[in-house]
Amino acid sequence: MATAMDPESYTTTKFTLNNGTTIPGVGFGTYRIRCGDVIMKVVDEALAAGYRMFDTAAVYHNEGHLKKAFQTLLPKYGLEREEIFITTKLSPSDHGSLEVVRKAYKHSLDNLGLDYVDLYLIHFPGTAKLACDDKRNIDIRNMTWASLVDLYDNGLVNAIGVSNFTVKHLQQLLRSNHGVIPAVNQVEWHPFYHQQELLDYCKENDILLQAYCSLGGTSANNDSLLKHPLVTKIANKLEVTNAQVLLRWALQQDIAVIPKSTDPRHIKDNIALNFTIPNEDMRILSDLGSHKIKYAWDPSVVV
Ligand SMILES: NC(=O)c1ccc[n+]([C@@H]2O[C@H](COP(=O)([O-])OP(=O)(O)OC[C@H]3O[C@@H](n4cnc5c(N)ncnc54)[C@H](OP(=O)(O)O)[C@@H]3O)[C@@H](O)[C@H]2O)c1
Repeated sequence: MATAMDPESYTTTKFTLNNGTTIPGVGFGTYRIRCGDVIMKVVDEALAAGYRMFDTAAVYHNEGHLKKAFQTLLPKYGLEREEIFITTKLSPSDHGSLEVVRKAYKHSLDNLGLDYVDLYLIHFPGTAKLACDDKRNIDIRNMTWASLVDLYDNGLVNAIGVSNFTVKHLQQLLRSNHGVIPAVNQVEWHPFYHQQELLDYCKENDILLQAYCSLGGTSANNDSLLKHPLVTKIANKLEVTNAQVLLRWALQQDIAVIPKSTDPRHIKDNIALNFTIPNEDMRILSDLGSHKIKYAWDPSVVV
């Protein structure tokens, strides 16, 4: 059996979701990793480094590769299915009735070779092929959430949540009173793009924020964040890497992270977050938000 990294050297931070289940504070993102061999290699590196949470989505087209990786690698590390936390997301083209959502969920489960996922998210507040300002988005979103609630109430999924929801979208959802509050809202969140109002709203309503694009995403211009001189200065002072500073900055706000990497060194670094950023440096990093550089799609335009 393969051995994992010494737990002392990586963060074992966990967050408790509003239904009592726990989620690792650091997970592994898989966006744009579509090649089966690469998935096998990075999941192997990630499990060895201590990751126990994996983030995918129907639209990433890698659920099938993850199935093979889990089937091969969980036995290698002596891990049971219950010891890892898997998130997948409902595609914007599968919003709507229970029938449509059930079919999409079953398709993801079949692709992943699983009986359940730990967390199922509505990927985006807008429905495919509807204009962002089309008011039907609101009713369809509500219906979609009701469908997820049905999956949850029937014990088919351990937790349900949303992604890319703004305060307005969350308020609409909570007003419609479906009896289950999203456990997680996964959103773009890094020193260049963060909103205190959203964090406050989520904390008040016991919704865990999970950050994506913590390192600037995979776009060509992500170096502007990773190589920002103030991030470098803080990293040098704390004797950690710039990426570790960016990830730890989120964790210290009680926000979970899901960095993605195909580089073995980065994969190890991104979970080795057992250090503390002093308050004055947390403020310096948060103040970079005045730049408001956004790397991913913008949900604020969806009614
Ligand atoms: N819900 C949504 O709408 C949504 C949207 C986007 C992403 N996500 C999820 O969030 C995850 C993370 O976001 P992301 O993949 O967009 O980007 P990210 O994690 O912010 O950044 C990934 C990029 O950073 C580089 N990197 C990783 N670790 C590094 C390190 N220690 N030092 C230097 N560079 C490093 C990677 O290159 P190397 O491979 O060379 O390390 C890669 O190019 C995704 O994979 C996906 O699971 C969700």
